[in-house]
Amino acid sequence: MKYEAFVFDAYGTLFDVHSVGRAIHDFFPDKGKQISQEWRSSQIHYFMVRQLADSYIPFDIITRWALKDALLKSDVKFGDDIISALMAQYEKLIPYEEVHSLKEKYPDLPFTIFSNGTKSMLEPLLQNNKLSDSFSLLSADDPKVYKPHPHAYQYAAEQAGADKEEVLFFSSNPWDVAGASLYGFHTAWVNRHNLPWPRLGVEPDYTINNLNSIPGEKL
Ligand code: LAC
Repeated sequence: MKYEAFVFDAYGTLFDVHSVGRAIHDFFPDKGKQISQEWRSSQIHYFMVRQLADSYIPFDIITRWALKDALLKSDVKFGDDIISALMAQYEKLIPYEEVHSLKEKYPDLPFTIFSNGTKSMLEPLLQNNKLSDSFSLLSADDPKVYKPHPHAYQYAAEQAGADKEEVLFFSSNPWDVAGASLYGFHTAWVNRHNLPWPRLGVEPDYTINNLNSIPGEKL
């Protein structure tokens, strides 16, 4: 299969969303992992609700709201200063090790990030990690429709200049891989934690544990 576009989810796929746990630990010792997990699950829950209600709210606001609720649920004292400090850490998430050398390995492949994050979140994240030249950047905030809605993937294919079947889409998030597969992309599930695939009535084309190599592409 000849792919014309290689499209990557950002949070959880290229960047470790739980790398923010270290900054949380500095404020709330021994609560970094718990708050980080609560933050991520609330963030996903909240954008899914807004998308299903056809009532889009930008991802930076969703992420701030989810953080506040994660802190409240963790029974810690916090103010706007801590919220701002932790939101700023979201622009310094750590990329998974192999992401740095991906473009070097495949200089001729067109790599695009397509994320539910806003450009105001993603551009500094890429800059801070010196990855701005490795990926083109697309945000669901442009069409104002979140993945896994099919219109989101349609937007990404149009912007990438590829027919849906010419796109190979990578995500570590099963909801994202399932949405992309159901839309018509070829998909690679980046199963970084060896989890079982959920029963969603659709399967990824490839299951890989990391991004050391691109399925079907010569190094
Ligand atoms: C992304 C998150 C939501 O779209 O996985 O990057």
